[in-house]
Amino acid sequence: MAKIAVLGYGTVGSGLVEVLERNSAVARKQAGEEVLVKYILDLRDFPGDPYEDRVIHDYNIILNDPEVSVVCEAMGGVGAAYQFTKQALEAGKSVCTSNKELVAKHGAKLLGIAAQKSCNYMFEASVGGGIPIIRAINTSLVTERIEEITGILNGTTNYILTRMEREGADYGQVLKQAQELGYAERNPEADVEGWDTCRKIAILASLVTGKNVDSEKIHTEGITGISGADFAYAEAADMTVKLLASCRFNEDGSVRAMVAPFMISRDHYFAGVNDVFNGILVAGDMVGEVSFGGRGAGKLPTASAVAADVVNCVRSRGRNISCTWKPEEVRLEDPGESERRFFIRASASERGAVEKAFGEGTGFVKLPEGGGEFGFFTPVMKEKDFDEKCSALGAAVLSRIRLA
Ligand code: HSE
Repeated sequence: MAKIAVLGYGTVGSGLVEVLERNSAVARKQAGEEVLVKYILDLRDFPGDPYEDRVIHDYNIILNDPEVSVVCEAMGGVGAAYQFTKQALEAGKSVCTSNKELVAKHGAKLLGIAAQKSCNYMFEASVGGGIPIIRAINTSLVTERIEEITGILNGTTNYILTRMEREGADYGQVLKQAQELGYAERNPEADVEGWDTCRKIAILASLVTGKNVDSEKIHTEGITGISGADFAYAEAADMTVKLLASCRFNEDGSVRAMVAPFMISRDHYFAGVNDVFNGILVAGDMVGEVSFGGRGAGKLPTASAVAADVVNCVRSRGRNISCTWKPEEVRLEDPGESERRFFIRASASERGAVEKAFGEGTGFVKLPEGGGEFGFFTPVMKEKDFDEKCSALGAAVLSRIRLA
């Protein structure tokens, strides 16, 4: 029998206990032995909960119990969660987690400890919730030269953008609704500012390159500046707006990575990825483009991915499954050198200056005018040239969105 401990009895922790209970026969069959939750570590007590007798408050009990072979960290954050994970791995216990912040920040180091101690650090649930993207990159696509990964990697922001599009509502209004429904956190900053998406693409890029991609160095923009007016223009052009993470792997080993809202055609794969769903496209040199989709957030989908990691840890007890993510830093390409087209919404009163800055007539697609403003698509240009022109125009530019 495999005995495990769950750190944190919140959404993911309680979801994991539920998955292992409801699918206990499946887990037993796949692991080759029964998987039992021996301890649940939390600061709180849970009177009346069927697992209340497993709840403890002292981590040392778990650390010093030789029966516990797998620890599931569902606490979040990079403080105690990091210390507990490190201590468990150093004690030879495998750790499974959905904590993308911790994986993005300390993944290389924790994987190194797991390798030394012949145990495993697994984090399938940290990217794409229930979508098996980590395992696909680590195993199924392992002989590919991966050229590009693009994804909608955050359920909360995708839900907000979907509702803005469908209801013609403004960002603030939809965020409030999303918070009331429990789809967005009371402090939604990590999601809406794009940091959560950024950590997830950094994890994927680190796994592809085998080097560390520092999420804090990736150019990241969130969705707080997207308005109902932007969606109205997008609709007129048969397009929509999505928060995309993109990562291009260059032949020289450098990486071009970015997180930002993009305007995409209605025909694009990502235009059909709505609500809390996530979508990921991986382009490999032999296989071509592979798409992944599913529930990127939520209790049971996320817990299902953690439970699968638990079973994999049990199956490979005493053996480290190699994972090539080393601490050496990847060189990130200057985002200013990327070339693309942009959508601009600008004040009609400044039309002359705006048209002068971006040229006239060539490569433009103008959109319907209204309310003292106008919108258009620029020709292809470098990010840094575009930024320079926008800065010079100041308040005349009301909104700017990249085109995918
Ligand atoms: N806040 C995250 C999201 C949870 O909305 O995608 C899953 O990582």
